[in-house]
Amino acid sequence: MKFFLDTANLDELKKGAAWGIVDGVTTNPSLIAKEGRPIAHQIRLICDIVDGDISAEVVATEAKEMIREGRELARLHKNVVVKCPLTREGIKATAALSKEGLRVNVTLCFSAGQALLAAKAGAYIISPFVGRLDDIGWTGMDLIRSLTTIYKNYGFKTQILAASLRSPTHVIDAAMAGAHIGTMPFKVLDMLFNHPLTDKGLEQFLKDYNKVFQETPVAG
Ligand code: E4P
Repeated sequence: MKFFLDTANLDELKKGAAWGIVDGVTTNPSLIAKEGRPIAHQIRLICDIVDGDISAEVVATEAKEMIREGRELARLHKNVVVKCPLTREGIKATAALSKEGLRVNVTLCFSAGQALLAAKAGAYIISPFVGRLDDIGWTGMDLIRSLTTIYKNYGFKTQILAASLRSPTHVIDAAMAGAHIGTMPFKVLDMLFNHPLTDKGLEQFLKDYNKVFQETPVAG
């Protein structure tokens, strides 16, 4: 499973990248706006930090303009993946950009039917939003399970990116369901490290060692 960070914040990206386990980044217009720099500028800075797929979303709503924006975003850096919303115009733009050889992440997917449309349009990635489905009382993870089955049935190459993950449990369940990628806020990635038995075990190991070799250097 690839781990993507769902943030446009440079400090968070630097911290995550330093752990050596971040395979890519997803952004959206809300996340870019939080950082206060125009999209092209922020995406270039992100590409300097993380070497992997970096999703940059179009803000146009008409296919013609989405295609123009998508081409511009793709020119920013070889790692840029153009993100288009799952609307009629977004799918039209996805089909056109994919035919040109650009990689498209289709976002705001909330049903298996929508995900089929994205795969048929040649999307590189589909982003089903787990947490936002949970928010309206559905079981978001069921969508990931349906998509892994459906895409497998027909050999679609589109990668399933479990998005809107809000907790370590979401990440584990998405992995169990076979999502190719999980994108998560920095806070969730950080929480994946935590286990009280790891802390307790390490404390005991060091206590035992230091009891015997208190002042002795390790290599000595
Ligand atoms: C993914 O590409 C989206 O940016 C993201 O996962 C949305 O998450 P949210 O529902 O927590 O805003």
